[in-house]
Amino acid sequence: MIKKAKAIINVNEPLISNLSNISSLLREFGDINWCGFYLAKGDTLYLGPFQGDVACTAIPFSKGICGRCATLKETVIVDDCLSDTSHIACSDKTRSEIVTPIILNDKVVAVIDIDSESYSRFNENDKEILEKIAKILSPLFKNGLF
Ligand code: SME
Repeated sequence: MIKKAKAIINVNEPLISNLSNISSLLREFGDINWCGFYLAKGDTLYLGPFQGDVACTAIPFSKGICGRCATLKETVIVDDCLSDTSHIACSDKTRSEIVTPIILNDKVVAVIDIDSESYSRFNENDKEILEKIAKILSPLFKNGLF
C-alpha cells in the first residue's frame, strides 16, 4: 500500500485531489466501513475526502476518537467503540476504529480515520502502515488546505 500511495500522489496537483485518491486506496485495508480524512483548522477537525456513509462534518479537538488523536498527536486504536464513551458514532454499526495524525512542523494538520464493523479490527501493523502514509502525505499540507 505504501508503494501504491507513493505512486498515486502527485505533488504538483491540489492537496484535495491527492487525499481523495488516497482515501480510495485506504479501502484496501479491508473489513472496513469508512475511511478518510478530517482536516484541522484551528482546534477543529473538518470532514475531508472519504469513502463511506455520510459522516459528521466538524469534530473539536476535545471530542471523539479523532479529537483524542489530534490532541495526543499519536495514533489511537479503539477495539470496542461501544464501550468508549468519547466515541462519536457516525454509524451505529462501527465497532472498532483507528485514527492516525498527519503532523507538519509539530502541528496536527489532519487525521486519517478508519472504521470497521468488526471488533478489534486494527493492530500494530495497520498502525505502522498508516503512520507511513501520514508521513508521505505530511509535506503536501505545506501550502495550506487549498
Ligand atoms: N468516530 C469518530 C468520528 C468520525 S467517524 O468515525 C467517520 C470519532 O469518534 O472521532
